[in-house]
Amino acid sequence: MSYHDDRRRKLLSRLSRQVAYTAPALALVAGGIALQVSADGTTAPLDPIAEETLWLASNRAEAEGEAEGEAEAEGEAEGEAEGEAEGETEAEGGAEGEAEAEGGASAAVTRPADYSPGYSEEGGNAAELLARGEALYSDTSLSTNGLSCASCHGSDGNDMGYKATFEQPFPHRVAMANSQFGMAEVHADEMVQVCMVAPMEAEPLAWGSEELNSLAAYMVEVQKRFAGEPHDL
Ligand code: HEC
Repeated sequence: MSYHDDRRRKLLSRLSRQVAYTAPALALVAGGIALQVSADGTTAPLDPIAEETLWLASNRAEAEGEAEGEAEAEGEAEGEAEGEAEGETEAEGGAEGEAEAEGGASAAVTRPADYSPGYSEEGGNAAELLARGEALYSDTSLSTNGLSCASCHGSDGNDMGYKATFEQPFPHRVAMANSQFGMAEVHADEMVQVCMVAPMEAEPLAWGSEELNSLAAYMVEVQKRFAGEPHDL
């Protein structure tokens, strides 16, 4: 198995672990249509969390496939996803425990009461803060699973893994924050925390820390760039 296949398999494994509690049965992406296959073999549309996670996985697999010039990348990725999902069905009990723990962690990703962030959500943040944020965006040491923000969201102006909601200034609604943490809308720093805890499988950053402020300030500018607006990057 090549290095890239191995990386893809691990990423898909992690992604399917995250959705294991919402998609306990076999989940797969067939011809771009997300389906959930239950134990009795019937299929139903996949619930939103699983769908968005698999969307990201296939998005990522496609990007890697293109980079490697592999026409069959998507087919392979589907096969892997299928295998992983089957494995996860067995581990369902444990995954449910994790889901409960995550529900209780929603406080950790929400701004504390009377909190005033050390960055501006309108932009105009110091160049130093943005440079630090950009560096952290590619820093795999922030996660426990070898991923950096850029692993999923791209780098060098290649903003990927973002949905149309990202075109609106913060705070706004993000499907993942809503479905996994029950948040109606998120500030940029709260979304950084959501991604720290969920896809990065790490502890949230300390509120008021330079790391959190700089990543959030950087996200404000990436949001503007994504929306095709003037930005400071
Ligand atoms: C394993 C992949 C993965 C990693 C790693 C990851 N994210 Fe995310 N991120 C997602 C997914 C999935 C979404 C949800 C897309 C949606 O619901 O619109 C998301 C959404 C976001 C959004 C919200 C976009 C919007 O619509 O407003 C921001 C901002 C963001 N991530 C920042 C980060 C930062 C900062 C890091 C690193 C600390 C990070 N992400 C790491 C997968 C990832």
